[in-house]
Amino acid sequence: MEANGSQPVSGGSVAIANTSDLAVQIRHLNYYFGQGELRKQALFDISLDFPCGQIAIITGPSGSGKTTFLSLIGALRTLHEGSLKVMGRELVGMSNSQLVEVRRGIGFIFQAHNLFESLTASQNVEMAVELMGNGSKRERAVTVLKRLGLENRVDYKPNSLSGGQKQRVAIARALVNQPQLILADEPTAALDKQSGRDVVNLMQQLAREQQCTILMVTHDNRILDVADRIINLVDGRLESDTSMNEFVTAHDPKNLDPRMFML
Ligand SMILES: Nc1ncnc2c1ncn2[C@@H]1O[C@H](COP(=O)(O)OP(=O)(O)OP(=O)(O)O)[C@@H](O)[C@H]1O
Ligand SMILES: [Mg+2]
Repeated sequence: MEANGSQPVSGGSVAIANTSDLAVQIRHLNYYFGQGELRKQALFDISLDFPCGQIAIITGPSGSGKTTFLSLIGALRTLHEGSLKVMGRELVGMSNSQLVEVRRGIGFIFQAHNLFESLTASQNVEMAVELMGNGSKRERAVTVLKRLGLENRVDYKPNSLSGGQKQRVAIARALVNQPQLILADEPTAALDKQSGRDVVNLMQQLAREQQCTILMVTHDNRILDVADRIINLVDGRLESDTSMNEFVTAHDPKNLDPRMFML
């Protein structure tokens, strides 16, 4: 449920969706870097709901806290104040082993593809395969690589793949366990226009098929149309929260406020 239409919002005010339909529920989240006199607040009183199946784009100037925000949701950092539930489970107070379990249910895609250069495309994906369900690791890796159009590149190493192909291997790795949540930090930043478009189209298609939620940080305003919702962070604060459905029916997308995407 999009709470705020295209209106600017202040942190802390958000309509409540049916909580069982929420992939992520955040209340009054604050986060700080450093300690003592060097302590600096990076995120301020963020409250947001992300319903299951939603594709949300997070945008905002450099240093506005986008990566920090994603890494908290991904249980890669521990939040300092507030509440953060991922797939219904409160992360605050979890043990390390419980946090590892939460991370296993999330597909991560980063700007740098982070592939192992000494492993083939298939082996890179196989590394991520959880042993559950049917089929060997190799079969499952090859199936998802084929789905991403890489059937002829399964046994290639990253240095023989193009930038777009490497990023597709990284996406295959994120999707191979059919996660309910995908966190993507500038997944198209290193790609040319067409490869970037292909990658987000594939993410959108696979997300729809697998009913998963995608939170994607991007500066790339050419891919905004895949989003159901656009969230803008400025200086660690929630500046605006825009539902694309509501927005597109009321406005021509070409007239989106360009200030929202200023770097
Ligand atoms: N490890 C860290 N230690 C101290 N400060 C940090 C650390 N990581 C980030 N910060 C600070 O926190 C703020 C938010 O950083 P973050 O990386 O989340 O921004 P961002 O929106 O992802 O920026 P970009 O678009 O450049 O990737 C910045 O002021 C940054 O300098
Ligand atoms: Mg970042």
